[in-house]
Amino acid sequence: MTSLFLDTLSGQNSAPPPIWLMRQAGRYLEDYRAVRASEPDFISFCLNPNKAVEVTLQPIDKFGFDAAIIFSDILMVPWALDRNVRFVTGEGPKLDPMQQGTEITEAGVASMASRLGPVGETISKCRAALDDDKALIGFAGAPWTIITYLLEGGSSRDFAIARRWMWENEARFDHLLGLISDATVEFLDLQARAGADVLMLFDSWASAVPSHLRKKVVIDPVNHIVGALRSRGHRQPVIGFPKGIGEGLVAYCNETDIDAVGLDHGVDMRWAAASLPDHLVLQGNLDPLSLIAGGESMHRAIDDILEAMATRRHIFNLGHGITPETPVAHVHDLLSRVRGTDG
Ligand code: CP3
Repeated sequence: MTSLFLDTLSGQNSAPPPIWLMRQAGRYLEDYRAVRASEPDFISFCLNPNKAVEVTLQPIDKFGFDAAIIFSDILMVPWALDRNVRFVTGEGPKLDPMQQGTEITEAGVASMASRLGPVGETISKCRAALDDDKALIGFAGAPWTIITYLLEGGSSRDFAIARRWMWENEARFDHLLGLISDATVEFLDLQARAGADVLMLFDSWASAVPSHLRKKVVIDPVNHIVGALRSRGHRQPVIGFPKGIGEGLVAYCNETDIDAVGLDHGVDMRWAAASLPDHLVLQGNLDPLSLIAGGESMHRAIDDILEAMATRRHIFNLGHGITPETPVAHVHDLLSRVRGTDG
């Protein structure tokens, strides 16, 4: 059996396109909330292969998406590096904010993967449970996005602490960027060995990087990571997601070794079709909030994306993660609209 998702990544242009949604395993699903309630600590949940497999497969069974994304979190890397990561209900992730930059060491990076073994187990179990026509996506945060959590100690509105630290501690920042890039290689290597078909790098806060530092902070780490994975023999396609990077997409797409690029809902898909290199598959980019409203306005937005992508290899997705308020019926409606099965 072939996979529409993998065939698209390896060169086929098909209509309708393959579809999956960022954060498709999550709180908008009642079945997810039930499993989540059985494991109050989020990290323990991510490290419980049976429960993680169960919630990874829920959206595939329910909606028939073309790809599953492994249930884990980008903050498993800081957790495995001993940064006391915890999730506080209603407040999001919390970490002990790093002060010196020396809290992360080469020895810590070298021993990190052994703590993430359960993520590999989740992947091999998911791969075994999925039909051949469904692809399995492994993922990690891109180094800059991980560094913002390390320095800020949680989510942030303007990333002022991380940006200031970067300006004031250039040598230490460069060293840290190298260490986190190496840690990302270890995490993705583990997932590739366990059977992930595709790897995705989430640079969710790329928009906070000053434009003239994008090459060093956003682009070069992608090439370091993809190059290291290739030198270890991994051939899986890589999807990059430099959220909110605007016109920086042109350099990101031309100068990195990725196979597909995730586009956020701020990107004009007609511009993307005309301006981004042809060898890249474009993924995106419906505003996740349009799914809350649903109905005609959502249909128009979907049709517009499909039309703009008619001549390009495309993976339908949202511009960012689906929100907990999303009605499940609107997800079914989105799928029928994209697949042309809504009459
Ligand atoms: O279906 C999937 O995509 C599941 C796997 C997944 C999760 N997080 C599970 C999760 C993925 C791919 C992520 C990525 C992730 N995590 C990113 C990058 C993508 C993006 O949204 O920009 C980031 C920045 C994080 C960090 C993170 N994890 C935050 C800020 C939060 C709290 C905010 C929130 O939504 O509650 C999390 C927690 C988290 N990770 C949840 C899920 C389903 C919700 C927590 C819960 O169920 O209690």
